[in-house]
Amino acid sequence: MTALEITTMQEEIRALAAERDAVILAHNYQVPEVQDVADFVGDSLGLSREAAATDADAIAFCGVHFMAETAAILSPQKTVLIPDLDAGCSLAASITADQLRVWKAENPGAVVVSYVNTTAEVKAESDYCCTSGNAKGVIDSIPEDTEILFLPDMFLGLWLEKVTGRKLRIWMGECHVHAGIRPRDIERMQAEAPDAEFLVHPECGCASQCMAFGNAKTHILSTEGMIRFAKQSPKERFLIATETGIIHRLQKEAPEKRFEAVSEKAICRYMKMITLEKLRDSLRDWKYVVTVPDDIADRARGAIDRMVAIS
Ligand code: 13P
Ligand code: SF4
Repeated sequence: MTALEITTMQEEIRALAAERDAVILAHNYQVPEVQDVADFVGDSLGLSREAAATDADAIAFCGVHFMAETAAILSPQKTVLIPDLDAGCSLAASITADQLRVWKAENPGAVVVSYVNTTAEVKAESDYCCTSGNAKGVIDSIPEDTEILFLPDMFLGLWLEKVTGRKLRIWMGECHVHAGIRPRDIERMQAEAPDAEFLVHPECGCASQCMAFGNAKTHILSTEGMIRFAKQSPKERFLIATETGIIHRLQKEAPEKRFEAVSEKAICRYMKMITLEKLRDSLRDWKYVVTVPDDIADRARGAIDRMVAIS
């Protein structure tokens, strides 16, 4: 698309959103032109909070399916649209509700903490939900002597064990994008830019290892945590270990600073399924409406409400 075509399509989208009284929410991994047309861009926690707080009639969710489901659970009276129903998440697909029920039966009395990257059915089987932005706070809020089943991301779980000092039972799921960011990518970048600050998402396969380096320049952060950190830091150069879509947001929020992706291959094909055209069609043709059956939504809401409340 040319720059003019992008601007024209964005104007069409803004007009449709106003006509339909829809708020457009976009995750930090969305393509730049979708981020730029959104009312709010953020991480999973921020988007959940916006979805819960908005007084618009509808939410056009530019992210992946579990995020739209979470919005539908938090705002049951609103219409939640996702521009492409195939925008899934390999991490959310790594555990089913049936598998979780078996795991719970094997560990009676344990409390279940699910990362937000899970289906609504899995959340309905969970006691707490968390995002990378508040996972430590959620674990810290659970009494010390309580056994915790943490799912589905093993790297986030291992990192949580380190920062909370708690022993967790961890599901062995992973995000293919973050697991693919290898220690050798990091070593190469750090050798090239020894003075740069190093921002790492806790889903990365290298997160715990990076922490073990004990390097004061390494910071394990959610996507929005990276934005906040970069904005307030006096430093000028940052190496980023997460999905590359965030570079656009970082550059926009801190234009005078330099951001480099540790791995250019860290691209989430699900996040990239959302395009301006699909967003326009979604608002124009009122598709695809994301709904969660009442019985599942009612059981999942408690875990999600606890997530939204804890920072
Ligand atoms: P954040 O909550 O940090 O934005 O992460 C969401 C996600 O899907 C990471 O892969
Ligand atoms: Fe899921 Fe990984 Fe994509 Fe995040 S980056 S939405 S965890 S597949």
